[in-house]
Amino acid sequence: MLTEIDHVAIAVRDLDAAVLFYEATFGAVVTHRETMDDDGVSEALLAVAESYVQLITPTRADSTVARFLDARGEGLHHVGYRVADCADALAAATAAGAKAVDPTPRRGSRGTTVAFLHPKASFGTLIELVQQ
Ligand code: CO
Repeated sequence: MLTEIDHVAIAVRDLDAAVLFYEATFGAVVTHRETMDDDGVSEALLAVAESYVQLITPTRADSTVARFLDARGEGLHHVGYRVADCADALAAATAAGAKAVDPTPRRGSRGTTVAFLHPKASFGTLIELVQQ
């Protein structure tokens, strides 16, 4: 079902500082920036071969990423896996015992369609299913 790793998402407090770190340390290149107002999140995508490092930071105090940073601090937030069809993958994963955060797929950044699976039923990792 999972065709590739789409991105590894890292929650940071200062997006510009984190981008500079990845640029200066690894020569990574930002290929996309987007603010998702509904989620209260701003992101920068840095290409790593066919996948991305997705640096995310909250744009308001009540966003889920803000609560994550308050509770856990900066670091790995979720892993996004590419799937051919997000709705099919979500249905198959929940039928197999995973717990959906999103009952139905929704719009992600870059025009993707995404759905999240809860870490409590996924051995501690928030998992995002990403359909391009
Ligand atoms: Co993501």
